[in-house]
Amino acid sequence: MELKTLQPLFDLEAMSKATNGNGQAVVSNGLVGQDILSVSQFDPGKLAYIFSRAREMREMVRQVGGTHILNGHVVACLFYEPSTRTSSSFIAAMERLGGSVIPITQGVNFSSVSKGETLPDTIRTLEQYSDVIVLRHPELGSAQVAADYASVPIINAGDGPGEHPTQALLDLFTIQDELGQIDGLKIAMVGDLRHGRTVHSLTKLLQHYDVSLRFVSPEILRMPLTIMNEILDAGMNVRETHDVADVIENADVLYVTRVQKERFADLSQYEDVKNHYEITPELMAKAKEKMIVLHPLPRVGEIHYAVDSDPRAAYFRQVQNGMYIRMALLAAVLGKA
Ligand code: CP
Repeated sequence: MELKTLQPLFDLEAMSKATNGNGQAVVSNGLVGQDILSVSQFDPGKLAYIFSRAREMREMVRQVGGTHILNGHVVACLFYEPSTRTSSSFIAAMERLGGSVIPITQGVNFSSVSKGETLPDTIRTLEQYSDVIVLRHPELGSAQVAADYASVPIINAGDGPGEHPTQALLDLFTIQDELGQIDGLKIAMVGDLRHGRTVHSLTKLLQHYDVSLRFVSPEILRMPLTIMNEILDAGMNVRETHDVADVIENADVLYVTRVQKERFADLSQYEDVKNHYEITPELMAKAKEKMIVLHPLPRVGEIHYAVDSDPRAAYFRQVQNGMYIRMALLAAVLGKA
C-alpha cells in the first residue's frame, strides 16, 4: 500500500523533541530560552504550538491538578504595577508545573526598589536566583530594558501602554476555543484603545488571520496611529466608530476594555470619558446568538453585572485560560515537554 505524506499540523521541525540526561522530554519550539516581549515574536506555527500545549495543560489540570515538569525551576514575578490575574496566574502556572516562585507582586515598595534600586540592578539581582523573570512595569519599553540586562528570559507582563503579549495569547486562545475558529470573525474592540496594551497586542496578533476589526472609542481614546498604520499597511479590514450600537449586531467578539485612569495626565479628561460605554442586557439583546464578550479585567463599570449570567459572557473563562496559556509558555521557554 502506498503511504501518503500527511501535512503536519504544526511546524514539526521547530517542535522537535529530545530527551535530557534524566530521560525527560525537552522541546525545542523556537521559544526555549527566549524573552517574550512582544506578540510580533509569534507566527502561526508558534501560536498553534502554544495553544495545543495549553489545551494539554487544561486537560492535565482537570484530571490530576498538576505535574512536576518544572521541578527545580524558579520564576521571579516582579510587578511594579498592580495585578490580580497576570501575577496570580503566573504563580499558579508555575506551582501547577512543580516549580517555585519569588513573588514580588504586593508592590515593589516592600523590595529594595523603595530604596532607589534601579530596574537593571533589580533584574541583575533576581536573575541570580531564578530561571525566568516575569515583569510588569509602568514604562513603555521597560521589558526590553530588562531583557538587555538579563541573562535569563524576561516575560513582559505589561510595559505601560506598550504590550501585554501573554494576555493577547490567552485572548486569541479564548476566541478560538469559544467560537471554533478565528478566520472570518468580526471582532469589535471597545473602550480605551489608546492606553490599552491588551488591545494593542491582540490587534497585532490578529494580523495573522482573516478578520474584520471594528474599533469603538471616544475620540481621545482612539487606537494609536502607529498601530492603525501597521494594520492598514497589512491590508486588514478595519473601521472606527464612537458608538457600540454601530457594531453590536454583527460582532462575533466584543472585546471590552477599561478606561485607564492611571494613564491620564489630565484627570478632567478621564472624567469626561470614564462612563462612556456600558454593556447591558438590553444591548446584548441586539447581539448575535453565537458571539462572545471578552474583557481583560478588571472592569470598572463597562459591563453590567447582569450580563455575567449570559452564556455569551466569556470573560471569566478567559481568566481561567490565562493560567493554561502561561503554563504552556513557561514550559516552552524553559524547554520542558
Ligand atoms: N488582564 C490583566 O492584566 O489583569 P491584571 O491587571 O489583574 O493582571
